[in-house]
Amino acid sequence: MIERLPKAVTERTAAPPRLTRTLVLVGLMGAGKTSVGKRLAAMLGVGFVDSDAEIEEAAGMTIPEIFSTLGEPAFRDGERRVIVRLLSERPGVLATGGGAFVEPTTRGEIRARATSIWLRADVDLLYDRVRDRPGRPLLQVADPKAVLTDLNARRSPFYAEADVTVDSRRGITHEAMAKSIVEAVRAYDRTGCGGRPATFEDAP
Ligand code: S3P
Repeated sequence: MIERLPKAVTERTAAPPRLTRTLVLVGLMGAGKTSVGKRLAAMLGVGFVDSDAEIEEAAGMTIPEIFSTLGEPAFRDGERRVIVRLLSERPGVLATGGGAFVEPTTRGEIRARATSIWLRADVDLLYDRVRDRPGRPLLQVADPKAVLTDLNARRSPFYAEADVTVDSRRGITHEAMAKSIVEAVRAYDRTGCGGRPATFEDAP
């Protein structure tokens, strides 16, 4: 006789879908790329990497130090090299800095070798999340909200080139965001991904 297990048990024991392409999270500062990315990686049983943390480690400097001593172009160069290296590693979840997907070469590499997800949020929400957190050199200005508004306007067309878009909203948990990402990527797999490989092995 087949015994029906309680829902909580079946949910706990369901194996996560197997990832065959890295999931790259893109979007503005405050979108939740790192915190949601960690949750997503745990949910899928894969590794998580944050490109900013990798750049800091490679340079032996913090992001503000890199910006102030070497300048933004040197940071972008390091960012591109770090991301290209990470894309050649085993599939996992990669959170990128807010400017990474705007750089043509970095965006091209991500589009060719991974599945990209834009974590979209409105500026008020982004600003509330970043306002009391130092460490973002681009926001060390008199009116950081104006900078965020301007970046949002200029960068959104590039972020929109991501394979999948998932909206964030106030109060949504990292868990709920991670689940929405898995659902959205599964739906994208079902579309055929423009002829590129599916992200999950069991697709469609
Ligand atoms: C930047 C975003 C930051 C970091 C750097 C530049 C940007 O990452 O890479 O300060 O250009 O938007 P987060 O988006 O993780 O804050």
